[in-house]
Amino acid sequence: MALGRNNFRRLLVTFGALADLAPTLTGATDFLANAEVMLRATLEAAGAREGILFTFSERPALLRSAAVCGLAALPDPSLIPLLPRQVYALTHASGPQLPSPDGTWRDLLTSNGNVAPQLFHCLAPLRVNHRLVGLLALGRPTEGGQYDAESLEIVQLLAHYIALAVQNQSLAEKLDRRVSENLRLLASLNDFCDHTLEAFAAAIDVKHVHIHGHSVRVGHYAAGIGEAMGLEPSEVAALRSAGYLHDIGKVAIDKRLFSKPERLDDNEFREVAEHTLVGHRIVAGVEFPWPELPDVVRWHHERADGSGYPDRLRQDEVPLAARIMAVADTFDAMISERPWRPAYDLGHALGEIVRLSPDKYDAAAVQALLIQVRRYAVDRSRQPGTQGLFGAAAPTARVGPPAPHNRFLGDQVYCNIAPTDVDNLASDLNYRLNRGRTYQLAGTPPPLSLS
Ligand SMILES: [Fe+2]
Repeated sequence: MALGRNNFRRLLVTFGALADLAPTLTGATDFLANAEVMLRATLEAAGAREGILFTFSERPALLRSAAVCGLAALPDPSLIPLLPRQVYALTHASGPQLPSPDGTWRDLLTSNGNVAPQLFHCLAPLRVNHRLVGLLALGRPTEGGQYDAESLEIVQLLAHYIALAVQNQSLAEKLDRRVSENLRLLASLNDFCDHTLEAFAAAIDVKHVHIHGHSVRVGHYAAGIGEAMGLEPSEVAALRSAGYLHDIGKVAIDKRLFSKPERLDDNEFREVAEHTLVGHRIVAGVEFPWPELPDVVRWHHERADGSGYPDRLRQDEVPLAARIMAVADTFDAMISERPWRPAYDLGHALGEIVRLSPDKYDAAAVQALLIQVRRYAVDRSRQPGTQGLFGAAAPTARVGPPAPHNRFLGDQVYCNIAPTDVDNLASDLNYRLNRGRTYQLAGTPPPLSLS
């Protein structure tokens, strides 16, 4: 750059401007704030009273203001549509341009749009890889007259960096649009998948009135347990879907077994137990977005002490998703009526599950179930007309006060326990988990908490 001695101050200002531009190029902060910083730095370095920084969009071909300094009367945003020949001229112009002797911009700009091009005394096209990305338009020079060659060199130098920042912003916006578009598509795909599986779940449970809605509810409970355990949203969604399909093998079971009022004999039990293997065979041949789904279908009847089926797995041999499913499945089975017994009330069912933990059920999953039930009970206790219900015996007709906002338990479940009852169950669970010890051995899980 051919700067004379008298221009030493401007050289310093130019380097200062470059230093100011550096953080804006990372795109880590708000682009509009960056655009103003970039414009002010350029105006000071080039000796301009005012100016405007435009970004360029191709479809439609349009300049749109990103920052304006010293031109307060301009509308926000200021827009200048461009004809193809103007885009071509700006793309191929050799550096910053001065207006023609008649004060117009000939092929570069027209008077279309809501800003008069006569306001500009210098135009610096912003280009990256021979593509127009924006335009820097300077107003009057601070010292009057026209911009000199040194000012134009400074503008050209800074325009190169500003163009990169504008291009960064444009790419980031495109990426954001692409990502949100993909997320929207994914969400609609997930919704479609979810609704399809839900319909499938209803079809599985159509075999008998006593299991109507079981698979959908198990999916709902499993997702709630996963959510309370702090699992990722994608894992929670996978649990819901796995719940919908966990009993898919029952489609191959003789439906008379589901309505038999007596306990099943050994052969009948073996046939019912087969649903885990049949289901596994069915889902193993389907490419689901959740690779753990076949494991859940096969192992949701496994128990921590090895008393489950079909593979008699123990403890951590059973994947977490299947252990969660076991708790959700058992919970729904207990609070639902069966041909050989009435439904357990909520307190009784939770007490049984706690009693069988951690020997049969995963304590963390049971704790998460208690968390969800407690949230429901707290929410319910805040509903008008529900005071005094806790501790009462379950009514024969399950008609209660208005439904709470928390939907963990459906309308068919009568909530006969208070939050303090759930706290007591959590204490029991802690006691069982620690085998009655009040101290904690190294390597044992931390005490459970419902907070
Ligand atoms: Fe099952």
